[in-house]
Amino acid sequence: MQAITQTMIEEAAAFIRRTTDIQPEIGLILGSGLGVLGDELEDAVTIPYEDIPHFPVSTVEGHAGELLIGKLQGCNVMLMRGRFHMYEGYEPERTALPVRVMKALGVGKLLVTNAAGGINLDFAAGNLMLIADHINLTGKNPLIGPNDNALGVRFPDMSEAYSKRLRSIAKETAKDLGFELKEGVYVGLLGPNYETPAEIRMLRTLGADAVGMSTVSEVIVARHSGIEVLGISCISNAAAGILDQPLSHEEVMETTERVKEQFLSLVLTVLPKM
Ligand code: HPA
Repeated sequence: MQAITQTMIEEAAAFIRRTTDIQPEIGLILGSGLGVLGDELEDAVTIPYEDIPHFPVSTVEGHAGELLIGKLQGCNVMLMRGRFHMYEGYEPERTALPVRVMKALGVGKLLVTNAAGGINLDFAAGNLMLIADHINLTGKNPLIGPNDNALGVRFPDMSEAYSKRLRSIAKETAKDLGFELKEGVYVGLLGPNYETPAEIRMLRTLGADAVGMSTVSEVIVARHSGIEVLGISCISNAAAGILDQPLSHEEVMETTERVKEQFLSLVLTVLPKM
């Protein structure tokens, strides 16, 4: 697999620039079932991933596979409806290519969202969780290979991967809106199978509150690029072994559908304060 080069990033960015005069400031990556936010955009251009040079295409049901640029609550945003996962066969640096392109287009802040299994026993399906930190257990890293110093440093600091400033804004906003926002550690695994109950017990011991198959490579690249990150997980199901029932993508989609109003109001209110 060819490494991501500055030329590839610039070609993708140049293609996107030609489609709109809007210069995005905030990037949004929407996870399974959360793409509904894209419907709220004004003056939007929609670009299918397959049209953008070097972009992968998303192959997962519930992930539309299009990039939108437009205005949301007065903010210029670049929104990904659907993302790329390593379990689809993409190299980690490729799953995070859109983040490099966002940076090239001028994005300084990123809101990442995902659907995740609740490991913390205080969580219920339908809760929203502010991501306080993550654990990368994918065994992969998007920064492997020679470092391009023009993109970021060789050894990026991850001590505040998820911005304290943005987290406190999200917490205050949830409080003002009168709904509960959990907070916890997201652990990213490779997937695509859901975890075994033994793996979930292990992850709980390791300090994880929610588990998913995305996000970590995007956030590593965002931090490498100097982008400030806010992360929100939709707890779509109790993780494996907690309830006496199998896990399914249908359940994940049903839950995200159920909480979409709350998710929308949180994101729409947080955005102008970012
Ligand atoms: N495990 C991993 N990824 C997930 C889950 C889960 O339980 N739910 C949604 N994405």
